[in-house]
Parts: sequence; structure tokens; C-alpha cells
Amino acid sequence: MQVTGKVVVVTGGGNGIGKALCEVFHGAGAARVIVADLDVHSARDVAGPINGAAFKCDVAQEKNVLHVIDETERQFGPIALFCSNAGIGGGFDPMSVNAGGTSDEPFARSWAIHVMAHVYAARHLIPRYKARGGGYFLNTISAAGLLSQVGSPAYSATKHAAVGFAENLAISHRADGIKVSILCPQGVDTNMLRSIPKGPQSGDGDLSPEQVARDALAGIEQETFLILPHPQVLGYMRKKTENYDRWIGGMAKIQAKMREEFGK
Ligand SMILES: NC(=O)c1ccc[n+]([C@@H]2O[C@H](COP(=O)([O-])OP(=O)(O)OC[C@H]3O[C@@H](n4cnc5c(N)ncnc54)[C@H](O)[C@@H]3O)[C@@H](O)[C@H]2O)c1
Repeated sequence: MQVTGKVVVVTGGGNGIGKALCEVFHGAGAARVIVADLDVHSARDVAGPINGAAFKCDVAQEKNVLHVIDETERQFGPIALFCSNAGIGGGFDPMSVNAGGTSDEPFARSWAIHVMAHVYAARHLIPRYKARGGGYFLNTISAAGLLSQVGSPAYSATKHAAVGFAENLAISHRADGIKVSILCPQGVDTNMLRSIPKGPQSGDGDLSPEQVARDALAGIEQETFLILPHPQVLGYMRKKTENYDRWIGGMAKIQAKMREEFGK
């Protein structure tokens, strides 16, 4: 799909990858870019220079997601591309002695933002997309959804669930002309990455959000399901499926090394 002339929504568009996506879509000639973020000040700062529109939105709240969809379509016309990009880096603890030992809170919050937000967007857009013969979802997930996130069971589990939902969305609605892409980078130089302990996510080098957004645009133009800004991830996925046990062993070594470094 070409974004030229289209109405596009980006959640978590106030910072990092979302901000870069907004700017890249504007540069590619989108008719209007809607910046939806919990932090409305950042959303306004991003929307201003690109003649976009800003909405305050907590994607964990279904009514907030619906409000963004309704208001965008009322003010600017049909949404062609909805990017569920908002995410949080909760529940990171490389020194944890129990993967199930944290409180429920990081799991619940990550589930709401990384999974249910994607479900809400689909729930309210699919009937509209179907009625007009198609539409596009871009879901920012992570290489952690395909591999794992050493140091965060909550991030790993919810990003895997997000991949599972996106696959099902693409399968269920292919015949409706609805397209889905998942954006799965490793480390990207944003506030989120700076807020979590340094780890293997940066092993192949951190990319700039602008580079990741350009890769996302190219993937949408080619209508590719899996967008991998770090091409190395495909090799890691192959290793995982070739020999799951060996892959777990390798990841456990990375985990042990990380604990050792944090313990110093
Ligand atoms: N930075 C990385 O290394 C990296 C790697 C892989 C995937 N990701 C994913 O990319 C996405 C964007 O992350 P980023 O690195 O740009 O983070 P960021 O912290 O720079 O930006 C995230 C934005 O989302 C907003 N946000 C947070 N919770 C929200 C909510 N409930 N509702 C609406 N907005 C909310 C924040 O206010 C912020 O503006 C996330 O889904 C993240 O998991 C990031």
C-alpha cells in the first residue's frame, strides 16, 4: 500500500519509533497523520510541524482507542493505516531469581498495552475496513516476540502474544483485503531502550528510530507481513526452529552472562 494521500494513525506517536513513523508517513505524502499518545504534549509537538492532529489516548482503554478512530474518521476521513505502536518496557530485572516471581502488575499492564490495544484497534476497524474493501494494520512488536527478551518474562510473553494475534488477524482477514505487518526490531535508540538494562537486544547495534521507520514504510509499500530492521533476526529465528533445545541453551548462556555483568 502507498501511504500517499491516506489518513494514518500512530499510537505512541509522541516519541521514539512512533514519532519517526509519523514523520516518515508525512514525508511520504500521507493526507493526515494522527498522533495518539498518553503524553498529549509530546503528541502535539510531533503533530505540529507535520500538519497532523494530536489525541490524548491510553491504548489500554478500549474507549480511548475507539474515540481516536471515531474522531479521526469524523474529522479527516477513513483511516487507511492504523499503527499500534505504543509500548512499555515493564518488568525488566536481569537479576530476577524467579521468572514468575514479579507482581501481576507488569504482566497486566504489558498485556493491556502490547496485546489488548491491538485487539481493540482490530475490533473497531475491521467492520469499517471490510465495508470499504480493505485497510492496513502495522503493529510494532519486537524481535522479543519472535525470540525472547532476556531479563523480562512480561515483555517476552506479551510480545509473543502480539505476534500470535497479528498472525491470526492476517489469516482471518486476508480474504477481506485487510493487510497486516509486524515491525520487529532489536535495539532502537529511544527513551524505552535507555530505560532498560543494557542487554543482548543491542548485540547487533542499536538502530535509529528514523531508520526503523523507513524500513516500516518500505515493508508497508511491499505489503510484507514480517518487517525486520535487523536482518540478523531471521537467522536467529531459523536457529530457534532448527533446534529449539540448542537455542534455549544458547539463550540461557546469554542470561547467565548478563547476570554476571549486573552482579559485578
Ligand atoms: N526501543 C527499542 O529498542 C524497541 C525494540 C523493539 C520494539 N520496540 C517497541 O517499539 C514500540 C515503541 O517503543 P519506543 O522505543 O519508541 O518507546 P518510547 O518510550 O520512546 O515511546 C513510546 C511512546 O508510547 C507512549 N505510550 C506508552 N504507553 C502508552 C499508552 N498506554 N497509550 C498510549 N501511548 C502510550 C509513550 O508516551 C511514548 O510516547 C513499543 O511497542 C516497543 O515495545 C522498541
